[in-house]
Amino acid sequence: MTYAIVVESKTGNTRKLADALARELGSEVVTADDSQVDAAIDAAGTVLAGFWCDKGDCSPAAARVLAGLSGKQVFLFGTAGFGGSAEYFDRVLGAVEKHLPDDAELLGTAMCQGQIAPASRGRWEAALAKDPEDKRAKMMLATYDAAAGHPTEADVAHVVAAAKQALGR
Ligand SMILES: Cc1cc2nc3c(=O)[nH]c(=O)nc-3n(C[C@H](O)[C@H](O)[C@H](O)COP(=O)(O)O)c2cc1C
Repeated sequence: MTYAIVVESKTGNTRKLADALARELGSEVVTADDSQVDAAIDAAGTVLAGFWCDKGDCSPAAARVLAGLSGKQVFLFGTAGFGGSAEYFDRVLGAVEKHLPDDAELLGTAMCQGQIAPASRGRWEAALAKDPEDKRAKMMLATYDAAAGHPTEADVAHVVAAAKQALGR
């Protein structure tokens, strides 16, 4: 079985997962914007597709990759700033899976938390400075702090284990 590991990662969190999967499977990582992405997908029976959570869904670039996986077996993996809740991950995955064509076979999924870009923290700090009672800013700052350092080694191991199980390896 040939695998393609295709990833869309803006700040490197999901790329970490992709690199670990590539090491495990003895495969290469192709980014969603690589000119060779279509050829890599064409040559593969199974595609491990990585996305970062963008407003409750995947980014448009990842959605384009998923929409092109007709007839493929697919393992979906991703990172999101909000972590620690299987229900949240399931909700995101539900939205992301909708980008797959009907004839793609979803073998499995895995998500973990990913740290949030530092620029976001400054925005929420500014909002809180303006209004110390701003509940959303408080919640977002707490989320930012909880997400720092993710994906951890344990996160990576969790995703790799899920992929191996889904692929029967
Ligand atoms: C524009 C934007 C929107 C985001 N939307 C969400 C979201 O709706 N839910 C969430 O949990 N994380 C959200 N995040 C956080 C990212 O999903 C998270 O940091 C992810 O690990 C980034 O992955 P990457 O490093 O592979 O790009 C968002 C980040 C950005 C920049």
